[in-house]
Amino acid sequence: MKMRKFKLSVALLLFTGLSGLQAQEKIPQVEELLEKMTLEEKIGQLNLLTPGGGIATGSVVSEDVEAKIKAGNVGGVFGVSSPERVRQAQELAVKNSRLGIPLLIGSDIIHGYKTTYPIPLGLSSSWDLELIKEGAEMAAKEATADGINWNFSPMVDIARDPRWGRIAEGAGEDPYLGSQIAKAMVEGYQGEDMSLPHTMMATVKHMALYGAPEAGRDYNTVDMSRLKMFNEYLPPYKAAVDAGVGSVMTSFNDIDGIPATGNKWLLTDLLRERWGFDGFVVSDYTSVNEMIAHGLGDLQAVSALAINAGLDMDMVGEGFLTTLKKSVEEGLVSEEQITKAARRILEAKHKIGLLDDPYLYSDESRPEKDILTEENRQLARKAATRSFVLLKKHNNTLPLFKNAKIALVGPLANNKNNMLGTWAPTGNPQLSVPILEGLKNVAPNANITYAKGANISNDTSFAKKVNVFGQRIQIAEESPEALLKEALDLAKSSDVVVAVVGEATEMSGEAASRTDITIPDSQKKLINELVKTGKPVVLVLMSGRPLDISEEMALPVSILQIWHPGVEAGNAVGDVLFGNYNPSGKLTNSWPRSVGQIPIHYRMKTTGRPGPESGDFQKFKTNYLDSPNSPLLPFGYGLSYTTFEYSDVKANAEKLGTDGSIELSATVTNTGDFDGEEVVQLYIRDVVRSVTPPGKELKGFQKIALKKGESKTVTFTITPEDLKFYNYNIEFVNEPGEYEFFIGGSSDNKMAGSFELTQ
Ligand code: NOJ
Repeated sequence: MKMRKFKLSVALLLFTGLSGLQAQEKIPQVEELLEKMTLEEKIGQLNLLTPGGGIATGSVVSEDVEAKIKAGNVGGVFGVSSPERVRQAQELAVKNSRLGIPLLIGSDIIHGYKTTYPIPLGLSSSWDLELIKEGAEMAAKEATADGINWNFSPMVDIARDPRWGRIAEGAGEDPYLGSQIAKAMVEGYQGEDMSLPHTMMATVKHMALYGAPEAGRDYNTVDMSRLKMFNEYLPPYKAAVDAGVGSVMTSFNDIDGIPATGNKWLLTDLLRERWGFDGFVVSDYTSVNEMIAHGLGDLQAVSALAINAGLDMDMVGEGFLTTLKKSVEEGLVSEEQITKAARRILEAKHKIGLLDDPYLYSDESRPEKDILTEENRQLARKAATRSFVLLKKHNNTLPLFKNAKIALVGPLANNKNNMLGTWAPTGNPQLSVPILEGLKNVAPNANITYAKGANISNDTSFAKKVNVFGQRIQIAEESPEALLKEALDLAKSSDVVVAVVGEATEMSGEAASRTDITIPDSQKKLINELVKTGKPVVLVLMSGRPLDISEEMALPVSILQIWHPGVEAGNAVGDVLFGNYNPSGKLTNSWPRSVGQIPIHYRMKTTGRPGPESGDFQKFKTNYLDSPNSPLLPFGYGLSYTTFEYSDVKANAEKLGTDGSIELSATVTNTGDFDGEEVVQLYIRDVVRSVTPPGKELKGFQKIALKKGESKTVTFTITPEDLKFYNYNIEFVNEPGEYEFFIGGSSDNKMAGSFELTQ
């Protein structure tokens, strides 16, 4: 991070006295402010409020925000936007509080600001780091145009449990891919210099392990070994820290019996001392107060626990504001601890340029120029097409002819309310392109007729729970039978049926866990009846999580997974269904055959009694009586309108020395009838390790474009550093010996070769 406008003289090089590996240069402007601040003013900087008025992102909103800002009792706010409103908020602080310190203006910009692009789980399926970075840059440009300088993203929680609704917000199950994406997003949001007006500070969340709640129920307990944490769940947070993320948000769950928000091992020993993080740590929404319900004491006790653990900013709960002074007086918290936290908040304000110009993000000419531009919408459309995953091909139904007679059916086929997906509070669903409109845009000569065919769900009490932010599930006045009949009549008189089915937006996301992850019955019935017409059927499947589609995979249908694609949904679906873009997405989670297999992921260990390769049942082996071990669809899986063949998978040497590197390569040929793109994946297995190794680990990937008939050789360069893991003593090491490697188009490819890491 470049320091703007400051030339540090040697005399001003003080140190913060961090006990860890890194000592950080102090910022003179910040130190001068701290000198002047009272204890109350320092505590005020640690207070983050939300005045409400926008879409609620938690269960309470703050009161008397204006008065608290004027009194110097607020360090930042979120849920406030537009240059005018942000200017007004800054003026409250700058012109009225004693020291005139400007506010951090936060927001949840999870997948685009007003130009909503696909949900993160969808975007991760593109395996396209440049595109992901570009998306984050676009989001930063739009959000900062609207006054926001601090983003509560990326969410990098590894998730292997599709019951958990927030799986939609992350990048899936794999630590390597998750780390690459975390880095790309931080770089995209923050740019080279956070103090430029079109970049914003990022927040990596939710530290830590939030994606592994017991039973897939949101906010539930997490209990995990250190080995698993370090090797599988912590890497993406660390990658964000290594990429220079400005802030870290704690998670709601406990870790080893202490909630993350009050966990000193996590926030100080690991994050600051081991990883050298020098930004600030914010709690999640009222997560300080929630430690009372976790059973750790009253508000004063849990607030003291949190600040002493290393938490710097308290989101919404006001436990810091109302109890820390008393705790200092009673000796429970040192003033130095509070000064340290206030310093970190002020340093963040310095980094984003606010101390030099409180109105840096209040340029009223920008929204018009920078938000929802045609260019941004084009990027959202491109991102959506790249996020789609072709799950099943049947009888070459796809791509569709542009002059076909198409029956477009399903509750999500002509529906604006469900295109944006979860966590898009800054987007406007009414600006999204429904599938019907998009198909007509892309193929104006096609004859497309539409019928709803079914409700997303017929269950009114379920619909009520899902409809918290608006009519996501609209139960039609017509009977389910009448809806179905209308769709079947259209189907019978068409060349092909496209059924857009799946989950409504709020069927995934925060506090939206499901125990049944199949397509709701109302829609299953529609699908089965459509198949019975004998017409070719394409299922366009929308969801915020991996679904159990065992029954649908067994039907004679084609299936295109489109997640929740964002504001350009319909156009993107048109691009792919009509073959303007050949789908190239690959799953970033293993899709289970049933909830009984959860948690399921490709890195699972072999166990001492590996299940039979054939998948047949064998007594006294690790397997099920009623299901194969393998997932329905493996991590890394995704088809194309064309086909790719792998050959000549090899290593350029038999041995890899300590300081050397080895090249692992494969030739990939496009053997089908369309140009296309393929995500070439490298997996490595450490055959013998001092702690039991995973079955295989993703160690590299490249997305390549191949014209039909074309071949390319893809090479991965692997060094000993790439073979490191955390051993029993949580040291990051590699161990000499044999390594097997696999190169292919999904995680279930077969062994290809081996090499030896020498001492
Ligand atoms: C709670 C969510 O867990 C978190 O992801 C979000 O950033 C905050 N609310 C603020 O909206």
